[in-house]
Amino acid sequence: MANLPDAVHIIEVGPRDGLQNEPEQIPTETKLAFIHALQAAGLPTIEATSFVHPKAIPQLADSGDVAAQLDQHANCTWMALVPNEKGLQRAIDAGFKRIAVFTAASDAFTEKNIRMSVAQSLETFASVVEQARTANMSVRGYVSTAFVCPYAGEIETSKVVDVSQSLWSMGCDEIAISDTIGAAAPTDIQRVIGAVAEQLPMDHIALHLHDTYGTALANVYAGLEMGVTRFDAAAGGLGGCPYALGASGNVATEDLVYLFDRMGIKTGVDLDKLFAASNLIATALKRDLPSKQWQRLRAACG
Ligand code: COA
Ligand code: ZN
Repeated sequence: MANLPDAVHIIEVGPRDGLQNEPEQIPTETKLAFIHALQAAGLPTIEATSFVHPKAIPQLADSGDVAAQLDQHANCTWMALVPNEKGLQRAIDAGFKRIAVFTAASDAFTEKNIRMSVAQSLETFASVVEQARTANMSVRGYVSTAFVCPYAGEIETSKVVDVSQSLWSMGCDEIAISDTIGAAAPTDIQRVIGAVAEQLPMDHIALHLHDTYGTALANVYAGLEMGVTRFDAAAGGLGGCPYALGASGNVATEDLVYLFDRMGIKTGVDLDKLFAASNLIATALKRDLPSKQWQRLRAACG
């Protein structure tokens, strides 16, 4: 048996990565009820919204209103996605203490997503991260398309390592290696995480996995075996990426929690309360959610 950790940290990205991909406009009050239900379930970090251009992601155009009503006494860390200095200023005004910047290992992807090359985005983020840290904020950095890009195809490992190192050296404290289109297999995780971990401490590397091809949980286990302890997930398996057509949701938080519970690895998350949070958003979306655990618990509820 591999030497598995006693505890892991789940980063809930459903309110951002999940809801940004839902065609339906969810009322701000419903988003807040969802977010606070996730917090009540014990999730330690929640990516609540983003401060991108409202025309790029109209689903999250109410981010200022969401932020204004977040429970600031919550025992969890609120995080918001920021694409540039304007987004940083909006996040500062909204009271966030943690932001996430996002680039990719593929120019074709960043050009579509944020209208910059990877190099331009790193230049932009160097200044964003510096200003954020001056404002006493902490910063996560996403490396999207770390395995396969929907436009450029297979990604070279060295490119992922270079971008991760740039984000780390500019002051990001967590690097989220992201399988944006959910195409990776455990051997890809071993190759890429192995190479990134030669340059960066393992406990500052997170895995952000989508489940398009049904490999996400296998990839989580591959990461665990290598020493990764930080995993992104979205309640119910919500999610996708509007700039990666066909990409389906993030690995479902319920499915991760079940897996870790069953393996005796602590998450601090209550599966029943998490199910209640997912139900709330399933009702608002008027559809079933892809999570296996959500479907199982839903059936058990009759
Ligand atoms: N929030 C609100 N408005 C913004 C903004 C932000 N973060 N960044 C730029 N703008 C506004 C500018 O003020 C400017 O407004 P004006 O025309 O009234 O002067 C306008 O947008 C154009 O600014 P520019 O810097 O040229 O931006 P752009 O049009 O090149 O768009 C991004 C770049 C990054 C802002 C946009 O592509 C974006 O928000 N992408 C995010 C996509 C995303 O969230 N993807 C999913 C996450 S993986
Ligand atoms: Zn994602």
